[in-house]
Amino acid sequence: MTGKSLFEIRLCAREKELSEKYMSLYGRDGGYERLISLMRGYYEKRSPQLRKLDREREKNPDWFRNGRMLGVTMYPQLFAGNLKGLIEKLDYLSEQKITYLHLMPLLKMPHPYNDGGYAVEDFCTVDPAIGSNRDLEALTKELRRRGISLCLDVVMNHTADTHEWALRARAGEQEYIDRYQCYDTYEIPAQFERTMPEVFPATAPGNFTWNAEMHKYVLTTFYPYQWDLNYKNPAVFREMMGNILFLANLGVEVFRIDAVPYIWKELGTVCRNLPQVHAIVRMLRMILEIVCPAVILKGEVVMAPRELPAYFGTPREPECHILYGVSSMVNLWSALAAGDARLLKHQMDVIHSLPANCYFVNYLRCHDDIGWGLDEDEERRLQIDPFLHKEYLYRFFTGEFPGSFAKGELYNYDPDTKDARSCGTAASLCGVEKGIEENDPAQTALGVRRVLLMHAAGMSLAGFFMISSGDEIGQLNDYGYRDDPDLAADSRYLHRSRFSWQNAALRGQEGTVQHEIWEGLRRLERVRREHPCFQEDARVTTWDTNSMPVFAIRRSRGEGEMVCLANFSGQEQTACLPQLYGEYTDVFTGERVDPGRVRLEPYRYLWCEKKEIGSEKRREM
Ligand code: GLC
Repeated sequence: MTGKSLFEIRLCAREKELSEKYMSLYGRDGGYERLISLMRGYYEKRSPQLRKLDREREKNPDWFRNGRMLGVTMYPQLFAGNLKGLIEKLDYLSEQKITYLHLMPLLKMPHPYNDGGYAVEDFCTVDPAIGSNRDLEALTKELRRRGISLCLDVVMNHTADTHEWALRARAGEQEYIDRYQCYDTYEIPAQFERTMPEVFPATAPGNFTWNAEMHKYVLTTFYPYQWDLNYKNPAVFREMMGNILFLANLGVEVFRIDAVPYIWKELGTVCRNLPQVHAIVRMLRMILEIVCPAVILKGEVVMAPRELPAYFGTPREPECHILYGVSSMVNLWSALAAGDARLLKHQMDVIHSLPANCYFVNYLRCHDDIGWGLDEDEERRLQIDPFLHKEYLYRFFTGEFPGSFAKGELYNYDPDTKDARSCGTAASLCGVEKGIEENDPAQTALGVRRVLLMHAAGMSLAGFFMISSGDEIGQLNDYGYRDDPDLAADSRYLHRSRFSWQNAALRGQEGTVQHEIWEGLRRLERVRREHPCFQEDARVTTWDTNSMPVFAIRRSRGEGEMVCLANFSGQEQTACLPQLYGEYTDVFTGERVDPGRVRLEPYRYLWCEKKEIGSEKRREM
């Protein structure tokens, strides 16, 4: 079978839906044929190695659900200076046994204001400060050799105001003005502002920016220098698809579609999660399946829990393959601050009730803040005041709340709504920084316990886990950004700091924070990789513990069973797990555990394997 016919076969299977979706947005004369020829062009340019990967993954489309999946997310320049440096440091990542690497935006960006790379000047060129396209291709090759898939962002919603399109729009070229949402007067912007919430109310208030060169207001949902693209224009859609396929041909295997809920706007709406967004994501999914089926989509959907499932589409018309487990992440931190795992359990019950096509990347920290999007109805049901609880959480994580162990900062505090989010590294938010600062080894050790508890709970969940680079060695907040006028206004730089190779070297030295955390994570990773109950077909549910602070996940597969427990409180707890009988053993210590009465020390986690006949044999695997 020739390569070309594979393209046609894949296209043929999807053409009806693709053309209908395209024409529903862009009409019959919207240039559908141009889209197809663009796709064919990228298919023809795809390398034999990547086509081989395409064929393998078509046979194994759930490859990313494998129990061995473990991710790391990082800024390559903070980790290793640039892409070449990163290639040299890959042994460190292989030592962590990762299979997935999410690099923060590395495409050409303006300096110094670029929203951490999320203002893109050129979607097809690596930023010279980080490397070249050739480096990126060399990196993806080396990663593939090591069994690591590269994930890159596609900033769908906007370009930098220095992107060629924006420059040409600014110079008055109508074709390019039409690629953005520009208005001569404030009349329509004012109507939008009535229903459109702000994303950065403190650092970039308002959704429009006046551009004196064009004499127009431009839609800028995020920073004023990030111009929202106009997806009502088919040229924008097609060109953005071309950019994505270009990067796929450099070997990118996962696209994190950034801020995707925002890409379509309609007057009188909140301009988020509109049906047209789903049509676009669905088309993108089909385009990838036709041109480069090895590649998958990860949605960045930082929305209320009820909005998330729609981004997976339906089993017949799937959209994203994976989403960030945003709600799980927020609930993990809330559980830690409150010593109460009930909201977390509820959230996981919601997730477990989703259709089988829903799959999450779980994480504790990433390059962004923690936005306190909890399930308010559930909070009210538990008699938790959502407003006060949110205030408690962000005050707790700055450390100002009495008794707090955390050190962090507020992000985008809005004095009118009293809304705020939180920043900090996992170790600092968990108390390691305070312990070290106060020269209190017991506090530090407790902080380390919390770091491991949080990771253990996160790694017990359905989905795969992604570590924020530096968290594996307990990296602390870096307050240096406050002295840099270009960064000072954005407290997310508190946890976007240079990776400390000096501290990383301590991971081999017993008694150090780095060693404790590193080894703890290695143990968790090993069990996940080897134990059948972490395989993709394991059944995962929560379990009652009859103890507010104790969270339980039960994983079962065939005869095998594992119960993962986490005590989110600073006090010892006794949990009682109904309807679990028999002999369980903690896989880390070999300790026997009686599910009718499990004692958990403060911030202790246990992964308890059920003993059954034949288990000795299995454990030898
Ligand atoms: C996403 C990114 C965030 C960025 C925003 C605008 O939410 O994660 O860092 O500021 O998009 O592109």
